[in-house]
Amino acid sequence: MTTSSAPGKVYLFGEHAVVYGEPAVPCAIERRARVTVDRRDDDLLRVHADDLSLDGFTVEYSGASEGTPDVAVSESLIDAAMGYVDAAVEQARAAVAERRDDGPDPETIGFDITIESEIPLGAGLGSSAAVTVAGIDAATRELGVELSPEEVADRAFRAEYDVQDGEASRADTFCSAMGGAVWVEGDECRTIETPDLPIVVGFDGGAGDTGALVAGVRQLREEYGFAADTVEAIGDIVREGEQALQSGDVAELGRLMNFNHGLLEALGVSSRSLDRMVWAARDAGAEGAKLTGAGGGGCVVALDETDETGTALRFTPGCEEAFRAELDRDGVRAEP
Ligand code: PMV
Repeated sequence: MTTSSAPGKVYLFGEHAVVYGEPAVPCAIERRARVTVDRRDDDLLRVHADDLSLDGFTVEYSGASEGTPDVAVSESLIDAAMGYVDAAVEQARAAVAERRDDGPDPETIGFDITIESEIPLGAGLGSSAAVTVAGIDAATRELGVELSPEEVADRAFRAEYDVQDGEASRADTFCSAMGGAVWVEGDECRTIETPDLPIVVGFDGGAGDTGALVAGVRQLREEYGFAADTVEAIGDIVREGEQALQSGDVAELGRLMNFNHGLLEALGVSSRSLDRMVWAARDAGAEGAKLTGAGGGGCVVALDETDETGTALRFTPGCEEAFRAELDRDGVRAEP
């Protein structure tokens, strides 16, 4: 039996603009998905998942594509999570086949898989990437093969690419595999030296439709030169942001996050609940706050030295959950 874990992430800067070749800086947070893999005697996959949301619920899901979840969460989210598990196992089997030419064909080996996640599903915190990354690491190690975090990141990207029909950037999977803050610009991915960051996350309990939001920005960008300029300006913020990260200037990071949020708002991807949480965080003394991920609903990220527990956000109308989640320097890792 082998267990690996991998962190979720927030975007400090650059979501949406990254779609047009601008850089983005996602950052791993101390909220993890743990995947335990136990080799079976047959070629079946059996998946058990507890607590896939912050509220805590139980889902028993047997078989990769059949089973009845007994849960208070939309079946499409469960189906999506199971799609990532399937794709992760496929990539793990391929990685093992590439490394070994003796022993049984990895395609014929099945697994019992248990997922435990502290990352809410579908909320822009990279839950699917964390499950995919941890799943690939655990399944390969269960079969006696050790991949580097970079190899896990690449395999996880391929898994997401397959599940999302080619609509995947390397941001989530690279960040989850490597930990810390990372720079992603097209296929160029690297880690960035960073100070500890006082990250607070607020979650409105919902999720935006990423495809529709990306399409909306694309249309604005085609229609208005100033929308295209806005996307480029976000790229400039990301470049400034990298310098602020390297010099450990949290006040400057906050200012740049505020600026980034304003531009995302202008591009039409914020929402009332996200804006409320952003303002509540600022009013409570945060250095800066912005939406994270596709927007439309979901999560905001704030930098706040003073708010130890995310209390300021928790009592904001529209905020369902808020928590402190420091930057996580560890990416994927083996768990005892
Ligand atoms: O909501 P998330 O974490 O899946 O992030 C979406 C980020 C976008 O830039 C809007 C889309 C993308 O594929 O990069």
